Amino acid sequence: RLGMNEDIKEILYSKSQIKEVSKQIGKKLTADYLDKKPLVICVLKGAVLFMADIIREIDTYAEIDFMDVSSYGDGTVSSGEVKILKDLDVPVEGREILIIEDIIDTGKTLQCLVDLLKHRKAKTVKICTLLDKPERRVEGVVPDYVGFQVPNEFVVGYGLDYQGMYRNLPYVGILKPEIYENN
Ligand code: PRP
Ligand code: MN
Ligand code: MG
Repeated sequence: RLGMNEDIKEILYSKSQIKEVSKQIGKKLTADYLDKKPLVICVLKGAVLFMADIIREIDTYAEIDFMDVSSYGDGTVSSGEVKILKDLDVPVEGREILIIEDIIDTGKTLQCLVDLLKHRKAKTVKICTLLDKPERRVEGVVPDYVGFQVPNEFVVGYGLDYQGMYRNLPYVGILKPEIYENN
């Protein structure tokens, strides 16, 4: 039986590498947010796995919430249109906000989110992303905490999808081009 793993050309970041980088970032976050009671926001759906890892490495009081914004739909190319599919449950005014993302590509999703949170009078807004793909950036978004800088390849796994699939791979890998070329 052919499984998801056969669709992957190369593993970029293994489960243990991701665990290690989450611990390192978590230490910094613990120090930076000590007694600040941050609101940690997971950007659905891609960031769920990294979110679950990161919050367990933050050793201080923190609240969590979820937002669903989508720019890609089912394609491989950003539409540039960012839609809010689910908003936060709590007000952000005066709060220290930490956004958790799986990847920053063009930066459009995060630019929109940061603008929105600042408009709602958040005290601070910082970004923590597992992957950063600076080559593709069209907005001036600069993350504050980065797991790995990723080459300009179509990556999936650990939350990242292609047509809704592969999010449950326990590593980040490069998708074989033949998988998306026929679509
Ligand atoms: C992906 C990814 C980031 C965003 C990055 O989300 O998870 O949120 O795109 O792209 P950008 O920097 O070009 O905006 P997507 O919109 O595919 O939704 P998903 O997380 O539900 O897969
Ligand atoms: Mn996303
Ligand atoms: Mg997606």
